[in-house]
Amino acid sequence: MNKLNVVILISGYGSNLKNIINYNKKKEININITCVISDNANANGLKIAREENIETCLIDNKKELGQELDKILANKKMDLIVLAGFMKILPPNIIQKYFGKILNIHPSLLPKYPGLNTHEQVIKNNESEHGATVHFVTEKLDGGPLIIQGKIKIKNTDTIKCLKEKVHKIEYEIYPIAINWFQKGLIKQEKNFFIFKNKRIDKPIEHILG
Ligand code: GAR
Repeated sequence: MNKLNVVILISGYGSNLKNIINYNKKKEININITCVISDNANANGLKIAREENIETCLIDNKKELGQELDKILANKKMDLIVLAGFMKILPPNIIQKYFGKILNIHPSLLPKYPGLNTHEQVIKNNESEHGATVHFVTEKLDGGPLIIQGKIKIKNTDTIKCLKEKVHKIEYEIYPIAINWFQKGLIKQEKNFFIFKNKRIDKPIEHILG
C-alpha cells in the first residue's frame, strides 16, 4: 500500500503527534509525515518533530491565517491533514479546498462539549461519562461528521488533571485507528456525512478501550 502523505498541525505539547510517530515506527500505520505545522514557535510538538527529522513550518501569526496556511500547504505533498491539538479555527478557504481530507481530535464525546475547557465542563455538569472523538472537519466548530469515539466512566474522585490524562490515553488509541481507516479508504466524508465501508453512518463508531 502506498504511504499516505500526512501534514500534522499542532499548537502545543504534541503528545498525539508523538504517539502517531510511534505508531508509524511500529508500522501500525504507514504514513509519511511530510510536515508539522504550528502557530506557536514554542510548541513542544515542534521539538518532537525536529528530533525525528520531520520538516517543520511556523505560521506567521501576523498574516491572515487562511492565506498563510494556503501558501504553506500548497507546497507540501499531502493526502491528509491531521489536526493534533491545533488550537486555531481552520479558515473556510482551507476547509473547502481540502474537504474530506481533514481530521481533528477533540477531548469530549461530541456533539457534547465542542470548544474549549471540556474536562472542566463535564465535572461541573456532573456528567457520568467523558471521552474523545475523531471527526472530519467542516466549517462548524467541532461539528463535522463523527468517526470514532472512546468513552470512560467518570469517578467522583476524578479531577481535571486526571480526566485530561485519561482522555489523552483514549486519543492515543483512536487517532491511529482513524488514520489507518482513512489510508485504507474505509472512511470518507460526503457532504456532512460519515461513510464507513460505503455505508452512511449516523453515529460515531464506539471504540472499546484496549
Ligand atoms: C488533545 O487533548 C486534543 O484533543 C486537544 O488538545 C490536546 C492536545 O494535546 N484538542 C483540542 O482541544 C482541539 N479543539 P497534545 O498536544 O498533547 O497532543
